[in-house]
Amino acid sequence: MSTQTSDTVSYSVEEGIGLIALNHPPVNAASQDLRVGLAAAVRGLEAEAGVAAIAIYGEGGAFIAGADIREFGKPVVAPTLPDVCLVIEGCCKPVVAVMHGPTLGGGLEVAISAHARVALPGLQTGFPEVTLGVLPGAGGTQRGPRLIGISATLDLATTGRRIGAEEALALGLVDRIAEGEPRQVAITVAREALAGTLKTRATGDLPVTPDQAVLDDMAAKLARTQGHLFSPHKVVEAVAGSMLPLIGGLAQERALFAECIESPQRAGLIHAFFAERAVLKIPEKGATARTVQAIGVIGGGTMGSGIATAALLAGLRVTMAERDSDALDRGRATIEKNLEGAVKRGKLSAQKRDTMLAQALVTTTDLGDFAQADLVIEAVFEDMEVKRDIFRQLDGICKPGAVLATNTSYLDVNEIAAVTGRPGDVIGLHFFSPAHIMRLLEVVVADATAPEVVATGFALGKRLRKVCVRAGVCDGFIGNRVLSHYRKVTDYLVMDGCSPAQVDRAIKGFGFAMGPFSVLDLAGLDIGWVTRKRLAPTRSPDERYVEVADRICEAGWFGRKTGRGYYLYGGDGPVENPDVLAIIEEERAKTGVEVRAFSDEDIVERYMTAMVSEAVRVLADGIALRPIDIDAVFLFGYGFPRHRGGPMHYADCVGAAALVARIERYAGEDAFYWQVPPMLRQMAETGGRFADLN
Ligand code: 3HC
Ligand code: NAI
Repeated sequence: MSTQTSDTVSYSVEEGIGLIALNHPPVNAASQDLRVGLAAAVRGLEAEAGVAAIAIYGEGGAFIAGADIREFGKPVVAPTLPDVCLVIEGCCKPVVAVMHGPTLGGGLEVAISAHARVALPGLQTGFPEVTLGVLPGAGGTQRGPRLIGISATLDLATTGRRIGAEEALALGLVDRIAEGEPRQVAITVAREALAGTLKTRATGDLPVTPDQAVLDDMAAKLARTQGHLFSPHKVVEAVAGSMLPLIGGLAQERALFAECIESPQRAGLIHAFFAERAVLKIPEKGATARTVQAIGVIGGGTMGSGIATAALLAGLRVTMAERDSDALDRGRATIEKNLEGAVKRGKLSAQKRDTMLAQALVTTTDLGDFAQADLVIEAVFEDMEVKRDIFRQLDGICKPGAVLATNTSYLDVNEIAAVTGRPGDVIGLHFFSPAHIMRLLEVVVADATAPEVVATGFALGKRLRKVCVRAGVCDGFIGNRVLSHYRKVTDYLVMDGCSPAQVDRAIKGFGFAMGPFSVLDLAGLDIGWVTRKRLAPTRSPDERYVEVADRICEAGWFGRKTGRGYYLYGGDGPVENPDVLAIIEEERAKTGVEVRAFSDEDIVERYMTAMVSEAVRVLADGIALRPIDIDAVFLFGYGFPRHRGGPMHYADCVGAAALVARIERYAGEDAFYWQVPPMLRQMAETGGRFADLN
């Protein structure tokens, strides 16, 4: 017979063993209901005369994945998780935790407040709080040092890295690895705890070995490497508190945790966490994906070889086509180099790499070899005629039901689909460079794309471990369309008085890993040049056009790959290119602009306001499903600082009214570029937030 102590927790007694079952799908997050139920279950079994030992286990795939992060930022409702942990630790009967599946953050904290722990294979444990802008706030920074030492606790809690059962055992975080069903293991280990063959003790009673040097080293390292983040530094402070008596340390940890909860970084990081999952909710969710085992890639350049690498790493068979054998050799060499990188990073064994190259990769110059491919991705030059020619050929070659995808950055997928007799099978799969590393995949749905083909794109993306975002067709889809717009503001800033390096510094100061001009140099300046030339005939005469970038390209400087761009490469690393500064001076003189000074804050505000403006238009046009999809695009494809949550989250932080005021102020300088998107104006008038549209 089982006793339900809350909706998500129940307990039962079997031959003197009290079993507490946690059942809060999908991941047993420690919600208020689970906390109430767990504390009540421990107290209930403690009071029950026939019970000699207690074991806690999770039903479903997890022990406890952590605190319920949907509750963060809302008023705290008792009992708190630290209080529940004290109830467990203070129980007068031995309590054992059976750790299986995700046992993270608050889940690990519950486990280490028990008197012994066993892990099942497949355990995923650690303190990931820092990735969400908080710190272990239910005793992890206090009991961790008592159980595994200050240094190991600092490592887990400042990196957020997740470890398996073997490493947890080696660290002393768990006492034993066991096999079996969680409930069965719970019964066995509780008996062993009673028999004394599994040692039990209250973690809070263990001494801490003080280690101020390790704390100081970590504080200095984090100041150097993560100065812009809030919570990692608080982790060190909290762990330092473990040298106090337990209750004092817990109080200090709780106060620091509360500071983190209040920080805007926490809101941004949690938004980013949900963004990664929200994008999966698409209208085609119910459609069945087609089976994809063998894929074809056309083009072995930067993108084709990157996509092929990603597919190989995911265990797919890949046929890659190029125009001639020289180009094929270059493509294969790039794939080999990419895989070598994966071997060096420990992601792949050398033996697996060799098997992949020998058995899973085929190269060809004959598109006829794609007859049996389940899905073909075209990654040839960004030229509509070249792409249409390829798709005409594929239409004649590929088997019925094969998905025909283009990796185009900007071009109209409808136009490409129209040359085939099967437009329902055509889709855009827009990878980002380097394609085997960047997480984003824009799944571009054209007018006729069939729902199963969209589902297939998402399924492939999942297999390649990408964050897939559904996008509609327009010039540049979500990301590149918005990018094309806000890129212009950086040119205006440079014409009006900034140096490219100053713009880069300001944007890096906001949290981007690289400034926009450094990114251009890295991606190759020729790409934007081709697009500008393509769009020149449609450019409005009212648009302010800055010629600096064209002049740099005319000089043959395409950025890193030519050793010169906005910066000079080689020698001591990138330095400002004086020739570019001279071009800027010439262009300023030619157009007679009034040069002025900009603060870093002004640069960031203009940059972000431009980004948000176009993002709102993308949303209003239905190119992105929700604001959070746009955030995901920028977080996973454009290096947007994760702790700032993405452009739409930023917009909510600033507020629509303030953004409208900014745009109206800038419009005094350039009324063509700075126009208030109607949706933003309406939001400003009604006090709405983008978050409400998610
Ligand atoms: N709280 C609330 N919801 C959570 C959650 C959590 N801690 N963890 C996961 N979820 C939700 C997800 O949002 C998702 O919801 P959806 O279906 O509505 O989109 C659902 O659970 C399933 O999650 P995933 O899609 O991520 O499922 P996976 O099986 O791929 O991964 C996981 C499971 C490994 C547990 C992963 O979800 C994860 O890493 N979760 C976060 C774990 C974490 O960071 N825990 C620490 C929280 S902070 C804390 O504990 C503070 C404490 O110290 C006081
Ligand atoms: P690239 O110039 O590096 O590679 C293109 C390759 O296609 C060349 O190796 C060329 O030989 C080959 N090719 C051309 N015509 C062919 C044909 N008929 N048959 C077989 N192979 C052919 O170009 P890159 O950068 O790889 O871009 C490819 C596509 O991916 C473009 O559409 C581009 O817009 C898009 N893209 C590029 C990104 C980037 O950062 N470079 C990012 C995302 C998309």
